[in-house]
Amino acid sequence: MVAKWYTANTGKTLEEFTKLARRIDRLLPHGSAVLEIAPGPGYFCIELAKLGSYAITGLDISHTFVEIARKKAADAGVQVDFRQGNASSMPLANDCFDLLLCRAAFKNFGQPVRALQEMCRVLKPGGRGLIIDLRKDASVESINLEVDGMGLNAVNKVLTKLVFRTFLLKTAYTKEQFQQMLTQANFRTVDIREDGIGFEISMTK
Ligand SMILES: C[S@@+](CC[C@H](N)C(=O)[O-])C[C@H]1O[C@@H](n2cnc3c(N)ncnc32)[C@H](O)[C@@H]1O
Repeated sequence: MVAKWYTANTGKTLEEFTKLARRIDRLLPHGSAVLEIAPGPGYFCIELAKLGSYAITGLDISHTFVEIARKKAADAGVQVDFRQGNASSMPLANDCFDLLLCRAAFKNFGQPVRALQEMCRVLKPGGRGLIIDLRKDASVESINLEVDGMGLNAVNKVLTKLVFRTFLLKTAYTKEQFQQMLTQANFRTVDIREDGIGFEISMTK
């Protein structure tokens, strides 16, 4: 039920996924291997697959989300390998992705340091990682503003604001916590930028 609610809600902000896919498409040669960790309904992977001949994998712990994402990819007529698995113990070989993305999900991981180490392991040398997530110090006012811009109906607006305040902010990390966790993974470079209510964390292996 939560998966279906999230799928319908985020489907209303599809433009955000399209923009992100276009941005990644500008960075990557076609044919590159791309991994999205915790893709949920799979919107980013599907939008990227529409733009070019990438080899795209999506790895999510939820069987329900994997099913939803597979169906959405089939409906869109694109090829994405959506698989079930845990970010902290990925069923994926070493050194196989040119780029990985983890959006709006990292704060949910039970073993975040293991997840960072796994990200580093599966990237090719020189490969890039991008984590986009909520900042713990995002103000309630800035979250309200962000949710107001999502095009949701009145009930979903109230519900989404409540989810941010009662769950998401509690599990989100500060910049210092991220810096500390990242010292335990073997990335060559790390850059953390604050952006709106979140962070963009770029890593290279
Ligand atoms: C809020 S959704 C984000 C989905 C998508 N990335 C987006 O931007 O809309 C969080 C996702 O994280 C997944 N997830 C949570 N813990 C996970 C883990 N340990 N490994 C893989 N996926 C996980 C959930 O199943 C869910 O699909």
